[in-house]
Amino acid sequence: MNNKRTELQVSAIKNGTVIDHIASENTFRVFQILNLEHIKEQVYLGTNLESKKLGKKGIIKISGKFFDPEEINKIALVAPHATLIEIKDYEVTKKEKINLPESIDKIVKCMNPKCVTNNQDVPTKFKLITDHHGKTKLSCHYCEKTMAQEDIWFL
Ligand code: CTP
Ligand code: ZN
Repeated sequence: MNNKRTELQVSAIKNGTVIDHIASENTFRVFQILNLEHIKEQVYLGTNLESKKLGKKGIIKISGKFFDPEEINKIALVAPHATLIEIKDYEVTKKEKINLPESIDKIVKCMNPKCVTNNQDVPTKFKLITDHHGKTKLSCHYCEKTMAQEDIWFL
């Protein structure tokens, strides 16, 4: 009696977006920043999946959803090595590595309570910089406060 099913594939989606190659530990954060808990369509989330490239990876598949550039920038900040795949009528119509933009407008809050963006009606603006350890950081255009990726608060 050795007819156990050892492979059950998560089903393909008909229309929507797949975010693949998320570092496992960031999978739930990506889910959270995209507000996917409120969505009414099918969503699949996998984490600690085998990956040749990353060792372990996370994947999120969202039916009926295509992300705008602002949402893609959010994904880039939380999952800088992810791949974004768009599916239309079961076919992969677009597949791209997500790239960090040079600047981030509006979507992130400045950590400095005295910053003008926290005290007046001024939208936030950050430049992406690489520190001497090769880590990506956000530098506020107004107060020059520097924030690490793990300190980011989305607005
Ligand atoms: N996918 C999906 N629904 C479809 C088509 C593809 O959910 N109708 C998912 C696949 O499960 C996969 C991703 O989209 O996670 C990319 O699809 P594809 O390019 O066909 O897969 P692979 O060749 O396995 O991609 P890679 O080698 O880059 O992981
Ligand atoms: Zn600031």
